[in-house]
Amino acid sequence: MATIRRIGVLTSGGDAPGMNACIRSVVLTAAAHQIEVIGFSHGYNGLIEGDYTKLLPYHVQHIIQLGGTILKSARCPALQTEEGAKAAAATLRQLQLDALLVIGGDGSFKGALAIAQHYKGQILGLPGTIDNDVDGTDATIGYATAIDTALDAIDKIRDTADAFERIFLVELMGRHSGFIALSAGIASGAEQIICPEFGTLEPGQLDTVIRPIQNAQVLKGKSSYIIVMAEHCYPGGSTTLAADITDAIGIECRACVLGHIQRGGSPVGADRILATKLGAYAVEQLLGGAHLMMAGEVNHQAGLYPLQASGERKKRIDPYLLRWQQQVAND
Ligand code: F6P
Repeated sequence: MATIRRIGVLTSGGDAPGMNACIRSVVLTAAAHQIEVIGFSHGYNGLIEGDYTKLLPYHVQHIIQLGGTILKSARCPALQTEEGAKAAAATLRQLQLDALLVIGGDGSFKGALAIAQHYKGQILGLPGTIDNDVDGTDATIGYATAIDTALDAIDKIRDTADAFERIFLVELMGRHSGFIALSAGIASGAEQIICPEFGTLEPGQLDTVIRPIQNAQVLKGKSSYIIVMAEHCYPGGSTTLAADITDAIGIECRACVLGHIQRGGSPVGADRILATKLGAYAVEQLLGGAHLMMAGEVNHQAGLYPLQASGERKKRIDPYLLRWQQQVAND
């Protein structure tokens, strides 16, 4: 069993609902093992600049239900340089930290790997991002909440779309993956879903998008039509695509960009439980000597997955749901 007296924790990259639940679980589990926890502010920036605070169990009281992150989050371009990685490692050594826990996505894990080049302590990652684009875990912390938030918005858009018999194009987040778009699209009964996993969409080649709209309106008498689209799927985004659809079919298509609403809000139960489980598991795995691994959950079982692989391998979107949407619903 590794001797762990003091560990650091930070949240990095896009914040995700459940990050606070994860911090809480890390602090409470660590306290149970007499381990001190230092929380770094603003992601890796706090590590590089020495901006930190000691986290005690009372600091994490009643935060399980809060969105955002009490440690603040940020992206950290400085860590992409060797000097940045060295400065981060120097802080870890100065504070005599035996280990660092990084709650974030694959970009944050790359930062962890860079620091590991200059630091002898243990480093573990915890998957926290709404995008769910991290391999080695069925779901990331925040993904379930983001789906429900998007779903709530799309259901509301459906009401007004039905009343006005309109076509809507709803743009959801996901960076370069369609996890949120596919899940929220299917769960909301969207008539069409556009996500990177269905292939690229080029201006001037909109047949695949337009034909189903025309068929549905004319042949099936639909009073509203909702297209759910993942961001970065069309040059100029959903506003441009909606205008191009309008031009092509002569019926107005309205765009709605949901944006950062998807990142906020109180985490749903599934995210609170996942965050609590993985936070506790990660601390226990540190005691078992784990290093450069990500604590994830596959088939309800917590497990470790190499940090390097979690960023390198593109996580596969559910092929069954993709096929179902393509063959049955995209019509
Ligand atoms: O990774 C989470 C995420 O919300 C992505 O879905 C999105 O592309 C990106 O972050 C937005 O980042 P920012 O808030 O820095 O613009």
